Amino acid sequence: MSRKKIQIILVLASVALTALLGVQGVWLAKAYNVQERAFNHSVQVALTHVSDQLLTQSGKTPSSAKPIQQVASNFFVAELNAPVDPAQAAQLLQQELAQRQLQEPYEFGLYHSLDDTLMFGRYVPASQGIAAAGAEAAVIKHAQEGAAPMYNLAVVFPTKTSFILKEMEFWWYSTGALLLVVLFFAYTMVQILKEKRLAELKTDFINNLTHELQTPITNIGLASEVLRKRAETLPAERLTRYHDLIHAENERLRAQVERVLQMATMESRELALKKETVDLHALLEQTSQNLSPRLQQRFGKLRLDLQATQPLVQADSLHVANALYSLLDNAEKYSPQAPEIEVSTRDVEQGILISIKDRGVGIKKEFQKFLFDKFYRVPTGNVHDVKGFGLGLSYVKAIMDAHHGQVTVESAEQQGTCFRLVLPVG
Ligand SMILES: Nc1ncnc2c1ncn2[C@@H]1O[C@H](COP(=O)(O)OP(=O)(O)OP(=O)(O)O)[C@@H](O)[C@H]1O
Ligand SMILES: [Mg+2]
Repeated sequence: MSRKKIQIILVLASVALTALLGVQGVWLAKAYNVQERAFNHSVQVALTHVSDQLLTQSGKTPSSAKPIQQVASNFFVAELNAPVDPAQAAQLLQQELAQRQLQEPYEFGLYHSLDDTLMFGRYVPASQGIAAAGAEAAVIKHAQEGAAPMYNLAVVFPTKTSFILKEMEFWWYSTGALLLVVLFFAYTMVQILKEKRLAELKTDFINNLTHELQTPITNIGLASEVLRKRAETLPAERLTRYHDLIHAENERLRAQVERVLQMATMESRELALKKETVDLHALLEQTSQNLSPRLQQRFGKLRLDLQATQPLVQADSLHVANALYSLLDNAEKYSPQAPEIEVSTRDVEQGILISIKDRGVGIKKEFQKFLFDKFYRVPTGNVHDVKGFGLGLSYVKAIMDAHHGQVTVESAEQQGTCFRLVLPVG
């Protein structure tokens, strides 16, 4: 699939899913409204019944009361303006609410109709059955002697919102299912993009590999052609040069093929480590030595500052040496001027820390997170003047993981790069 096609699919699917989520949101809001209206309606009818009955009992005509007012979303008031027996009001209220399946906790109060002082208040938990009448009859505060006090009835449902949300059970299931679909889609897309990236990296790698292999093959071809046609006439010294060239190019080919094969075997099976006690300082000195011919050619410098007090680790010396060489190789390769490399070790809590620092081209922050991916090379436009397969650092990472170690990078563009390895000791 081409990149463009993937992008179109991604955009279309995201738009479709966003629209679906939007529709679901609108429906959720609607369902909430419907449930809320049903709740309000039931409460209003219940309170109307209660107030009608209370008014009848106090000798007033029901129509003399104002209709029920909803002061806030969960706060209802019946303006009775009549003398009321609190116990009876409590019981009636409970009956009426229970009849309408409104078994939520609520608080109700009787307010003095003149000055709005609370005369009687009570919290009724959800589980309580029909109220036992009588007990509250004496609780009226400030009951005025003589004149019968006039009351208004107020009811608050503190858990109204959660009650309505609970009633919307079906909607939560459907929303959950939709979210699952969205998550699944996102996961699939991430996977597809990852695969796509790997495929692109592999194509780059194959182009790179072909190019890298072509050079020695061409050189060997030319040299052997000369030897075949003119071996008798050439002076001995030129003959040796051609032989050496063939040998050197063959070595280069062998080393390249070996690296690719090494990576392929690492991919196909678990890395089999041959652990032994390794002196990291000795290993660092030796690998640095291996790099010195190249450094000398470019007037480079390598400084060793080995401070760790306990450089012995249990490790596979061959793999660790390869990994260290890979880092030194990068430090040299990616230094456009004469390379200046610093290799240091010191003790840290987790074991031994090895730093390999250069003053080369550096790596932009945005590329740093991909460095340890297989085949990854920092993009430099169309031409890479420094050759490589993008395998070195992924190998380093694999080796460090196998040794329960860590590798991290710190780099600033045009200033240099520092790779840090931590290997557990013992
Ligand atoms: N010391 C460094 N300074 C600047 N860039 C670096 C350094 N080390 C690695 N990089 C960047 O990270 C990329 C990946 O490095 P890695 O060693 O995995 O591959 P490579 O050097 O391109 O090829 P290989 O090591 O397989 O021959 C490099 O292409 C380079 O862009
Ligand atoms: Mg490399």
